[in-house]
Amino acid sequence: MNDDAVALLACPHCGSDLEADDPDSGSAALLCDRGHTFDVARQGYVSLLSGSGGKIVGDSTEMVAARAEFLDRGHYDPLMDAVADAVGDRRRVLDVGVGTGHYLARVLDAGVPDAVGVGLDVSKAAARRAARSHPRASAVVADVWQSIPVRSGVIDAALSVFSPRNAEELARVLAPAGVLVVLTPTERHLVELVDDLGLVRVDENKTQRLGDTLGGRFERVRRVPITYSTTLTRDEIVDVVSMGPSARHIPPADLRARVDEMPPAREVTVSVTLGVYARAAV
Ligand SMILES: C[S@@+](CC[C@H](N)C(=O)[O-])C[C@H]1O[C@@H](n2cnc3c(N)ncnc32)[C@H](O)[C@@H]1O
Ligand SMILES: [Zn+2]
Repeated sequence: MNDDAVALLACPHCGSDLEADDPDSGSAALLCDRGHTFDVARQGYVSLLSGSGGKIVGDSTEMVAARAEFLDRGHYDPLMDAVADAVGDRRRVLDVGVGTGHYLARVLDAGVPDAVGVGLDVSKAAARRAARSHPRASAVVADVWQSIPVRSGVIDAALSVFSPRNAEELARVLAPAGVLVVLTPTERHLVELVDDLGLVRVDENKTQRLGDTLGGRFERVRRVPITYSTTLTRDEIVDVVSMGPSARHIPPADLRARVDEMPPAREVTVSVTLGVYARAAV
């Protein structure tokens, strides 16, 4: 794990700072002042789940693999660039619901050379991928609806890209001048696939509710609608559906059969809103 990223983490049991165990000890672990220790998995991530855990199910191995395949194809590159642009030269980056780490890696590549990233995800499969997404990124298994295992006031930019966000905890971990960058789909996002394949619809009130949820803790400083068309192959359609909420409702064989009825190339709409928020003055 990257030492500068580890320096941003806090013990999920007592809130003390965490640091890497003596590298000569032969075992990779993080420990806090009070002696709580957390093994770093062979794949390079650490689990900092607090409490009982296990109630929230993150993305499965198959969903994460489909997401990695799809994001590698470049159809969402404009979204990654927009997120990187919003982060700019901010140095300490937190990505909640990091998934494969594609967005975090893009932000670190585009940012200042000493930028560091922490990616949180409740899914081990996601943390495994995110751990190898970038040399300056560290991946942590954590449930963002619990307290986030990150020190207070140390984050310059927090990202929530198609992911859940916990306004209270995000406000706590952000530095006073820090920003929260949120990317959410609009009801027109991939609407062609929703129609052709009978997928789960995006809740039309989501944008409104998002405003409400963050309202007390944050002020929106920028709202950028991003809409464009891109053409997907059948395999890409299978991947983009398999990485999203519909994957839980359509068995893979059914999805494949439905996609095989479609033309070999389908133009779809990408439609999201990028919101940049600052901590509200208290
Ligand atoms: C739709 S994916 C987005 C992943 C990534 N940001 C991207 O856009 O490629 C949502 C991610 O949030 C994770 N997730 C869902 N609930 C979570 C929670 N309570 N705590 C942490 N991560 C969570 C999922 O495992 C999944 O990786
Ligand atoms: Zn501790």
